[in-house]
Amino acid sequence: MAPRPQLSLLLVLLSFFVLLSSATAHNITRLLSQFPDFSNFNSLLSQADIAAEINRRQTITVLAVDNSAASSLSSLDADTLKQVLSIHVVLDYYDQEKIHNLRRRSTLLTTLFQTTGVAANRMGFLNATKMSDGRFAFGSGVPGSPLVATLVKPVAAKPYNLSVLQISAAIVPQGINGTPLAPFGAPITAPPEVPVPAPAPVDDSTADGPAEAPEASAPEPAADAPEADAPDADSPAAGPAADGDAPSPSEEEDKISAATPAVGGISVGLAVAGALFLAV
Ligand SMILES: *[C@@H]1O[C@H](CO)[C@@H](O)[C@H](O)[C@H]1NC(C)=O
Ligand SMILES: *[C@@H]1O[C@H](CO)[C@@H](O)[C@H](O)[C@H]1NC(C)=O
Ligand SMILES: *[C@@H]1O[C@H](CO)[C@@H](O)[C@H](O)[C@H]1NC(C)=O
Repeated sequence: MAPRPQLSLLLVLLSFFVLLSSATAHNITRLLSQFPDFSNFNSLLSQADIAAEINRRQTITVLAVDNSAASSLSSLDADTLKQVLSIHVVLDYYDQEKIHNLRRRSTLLTTLFQTTGVAANRMGFLNATKMSDGRFAFGSGVPGSPLVATLVKPVAAKPYNLSVLQISAAIVPQGINGTPLAPFGAPITAPPEVPVPAPAPVDDSTADGPAEAPEASAPEPAADAPEADAPDADSPAAGPAADGDAPSPSEEEDKISAATPAVGGISVGLAVAGALFLAV
C-alpha cells in the first residue's frame, strides 16, 4: 500500500524540522563531555542549571577551568556557585583570535550574571586585560579587583556561536552574594602593557550586552532586562535567578525558541499538513 501523499509531506516536514533543530542548537554538556579535564566544571554547569542557559543562547563564550581549578568551587553554596558560574559565561563569541585582537588593552566583557539583575558594582562584568608578557588575564569587573586567571588555551569552538576557552583559575568577585570572599588564585603580577585610561568604556564589540557604560557610579542593574526588579518574574529570560519555582521548558521548547524565525513557518506548514492528513 503506497503511503498517502499527505503523510509523506508530513514526514518530510517533520524530518526537516528535526534537522533544523539539531542544526541550531548546541549542547555544552555534550561538547564538554569530550574533554575529561573539564568533567568537574561540566557537572557544576549542569548542577547549577547554567548549562541550559548556555544552550539557550546563540552567541556565547564559556571560560572553563580544569578539574583541579574547579575543585576550589566545591566549597561554594548553591546560590553563590550559580552566580560564580554565570560570571564565566560571556555574552559574546570570543575565540582565541578574537580575544587577542581586542583593540583595547583592557576590556570589560558582559557576562550572564549581568542579565540576572542582581549584579552590582560591575560584578556582572569581567576584566580582560592584555599583559606586557603577552598573556591574557581575567579578573572580576568590580573596580580594584585583581586579575586572577590567565587564558590557557581554546578548548572547543562552534564558530560563531559557542566558544569554550580554558582559563587558569575560577574568578570569584569579592563580596559576591553578600559574602566577602578572597579571590581564588594568586593575582597575576605582570603589569598591563600600557596604563589603562581611567574611565575605560566597555568594548563596543560586545554588541549584545547592555550598552550602558558599566563604569557609571551605580549602574542600573541590567537596564535592558525588565525582570531586574523581580528576578522571579515569568519571563523566560529571567536567567539563573528564576530557578526552581517554574517548570523548566522542555528541550523541544528550547530548540523551537532557538529557531524562532524559521520555525513559525514550519509550524504553520505542519498544521496545514496535519489538517490535510486528518481531512483525508
Ligand atoms: C545534552 O547532552 C547531554 C549529554 O549527552 C544529554 O544528557 C542532554 O539531554 C542534552 N541536552 C539537550 C538539550 O539535548
Ligand atoms: C548561531 O548564530 C546565528 C546568528 O547569530 C543563529 O542564527 C544560529 O541559530 C546560531 N546557531 C546556534 C547553534 O545557536
Ligand atoms: C582591569 O584590571 C586592571 C588590573 O587590576 C586595571 O588596571 C584595569 O583598569 C582594569 N580594567 C578595567 C576596564 O576596569
